[in-house]
Amino acid sequence: MRDLTTARLSLRRFTIADVDFVFDMYSRWEVQRFLGLVPRVMTERAEAEERVARYASLEHPVHGVWAVTDAVDGRRLGALLLKPLPASAPETPLPPSGDIEIGWHMHPDAWGHGYASEAARAVLDHAFDSGLARVLAVTRRDNVASQAVARRIGMRNDGSTTKYYNTSCELFSICRP
Ligand SMILES: CC(C)(COP(=O)(O)OP(=O)(O)OC[C@H]1O[C@@H](n2cnc3c(N)ncnc32)[C@H](O)[C@@H]1OP(=O)(O)O)[C@@H](O)C(=O)NCCC(=O)NCCS
Repeated sequence: MRDLTTARLSLRRFTIADVDFVFDMYSRWEVQRFLGLVPRVMTERAEAEERVARYASLEHPVHGVWAVTDAVDGRRLGALLLKPLPASAPETPLPPSGDIEIGWHMHPDAWGHGYASEAARAVLDHAFDSGLARVLAVTRRDNVASQAVARRIGMRNDGSTTKYYNTSCELFSICRP
């Protein structure tokens, strides 16, 4: 996983120093309400420690979870994900579908500045530069803020699907230009 930069942002690997930020972000209902099959907020700092350890340990040349930070002062803003998209299936953990998804989780203090879209564009460029042919995004039907990010970065709405995550999602896709 390599660092990425944009005009305003630095995207870097998560470290143990990010635990407080991660706990603060994922303990908020406005962040968590559209995430996961049964959305719930983080309640224990240990969950944030586990999450950061998982994000920090990802070793893949293309996939990753990046900490999105302000390029000037290093302020933490959120997370950008590029990872295998789980299929719908009866077993746990869900098997990979063969598709790759992009995702964005921003701290509410960082909403409304175009940071998610700017960071997502950098991750998409990285994905296509690395040889991926297609990237998907799945959102809840009522997650209009997330759908707006997908549209801003040029993704096409392919309607709703039950192919992923054992739930009904609004599907977005983009192919390598
Ligand atoms: C989804 C989420 C990342 C969207 O964040 P966001 O800040 O609205 O998205 P963007 O970074 O694209 O910012 C767009 C907003 O910034 C504004 N903006 C300000 N300056 C801007 C700039 N320089 N460039 C682009 N947009 C700018 C836009 O007008 C827009 O505001 P609006 O929606 O009020 O019109 C955020 O709502 C979130 O983290 N939600 C919780 C987690 C979640 O649901 N993730 C998705 C799971 S599928």
